[in-house]
Amino acid sequence: EKGGYDHFMLKEIHEQPRALRDTLKGRISHAGDKVILDEIKMTPEQIKGIKRIMITACGTAYHAGLVGKYVIEQLVRLPVEVDIASEFRYRDPIIDKDTLVVVVSQSGETADTLAALREARRRGARVVAVTNVIASSVAREADDIIYTWAGPEISVASTKAYTTQLVAMYLLALYLAQERNTLAAGNIKEILGELKSIYAKAQEVLDNVEPIKEFAKQYHKAEDTFFIGRGLDYAVALEGSLKLKEISYIHAEAYAAGELKHGTLALIVENIPVIALATQQSLFEKMVSNIKEVKARDASVIALAMAGHTEVEKVADQVLYIPKTHQVLAPILTVIPLQLLAYYMAVYRGCDVDKPRNLAKSVTVE
Ligand code: F6R
Repeated sequence: EKGGYDHFMLKEIHEQPRALRDTLKGRISHAGDKVILDEIKMTPEQIKGIKRIMITACGTAYHAGLVGKYVIEQLVRLPVEVDIASEFRYRDPIIDKDTLVVVVSQSGETADTLAALREARRRGARVVAVTNVIASSVAREADDIIYTWAGPEISVASTKAYTTQLVAMYLLALYLAQERNTLAAGNIKEILGELKSIYAKAQEVLDNVEPIKEFAKQYHKAEDTFFIGRGLDYAVALEGSLKLKEISYIHAEAYAAGELKHGTLALIVENIPVIALATQQSLFEKMVSNIKEVKARDASVIALAMAGHTEVEKVADQVLYIPKTHQVLAPILTVIPLQLLAYYMAVYRGCDVDKPRNLAKSVTVE
């Protein structure tokens, strides 16, 4: 049942190219210039009437929501807030009929996410659900559903659900941009073109596992680690750090790289592993400075950058390249080495990868 892999997590990591392709299937026009989301039943007037977007979810799904915020704000120019469902539901949220609420849940059964959905609808907001399970509670109660086609996810640590949730976020953002005319047709076509080839690039990343395995072997005894990034890379850093904590029990902190000097830099000591994400072209120079900051404290830095950005080799100890793509889509590729890093760290530490201590796959209690 594990298809020859040692763990469900590794199998599911390797299923990502297939899952990404399935989630995109039928959702891009033949000419490659339009997003087709027939599942969204909003009228053109309703779409044009949206004043703000509120994304809510838990854990990894929340991290997908963070990517959604950056992407929707950039492509649709609407204000987007993201909140953890267990916070959102109890804080008397400011939402009304002009707010579009997006809930993200692999299982569609997470108690806090479901409660947040109900609260949003009670206040008159329209709710779009991104979920992986057909006819789940979240799917049944939402106004519109965007299914992710990841297939069943068995491992407690979410991997293919996350990357397909990212695809759903890109499709939703591009769909809103198209319907609200906030992005030139050429730009939509360009991003869709890149999206169509993302699964093949995900496969390339998977085929380059050796350096990650090597890094995991070298550093699996670490007690503390840091993930740093800016913009979309920061959102991915949070997911990489959660994955590592969850299955290897190594303490990990994700930091917006520009925040380091506001306190956390005090924790950077000799040989501490720092995973620096530097895939965002527009923030690249800033990230290079941040890497210098941690190198000056003798941290061991492994950097992730987009192919061609060799400059980072001058500052980091090791560099792992992801295939070139549009910078908004980088998270799909960047997270894969981080999933593999968490996996191999956990394996070298002898952890029960598919069933980490204290955790359940579906959190149906509050
Ligand atoms: C982490 C993980 C959890 C889930 C969270 C939400 O690897 O899997 O953080 O993402 O419990 O679950 P869903 O998406 O089912 O609502």
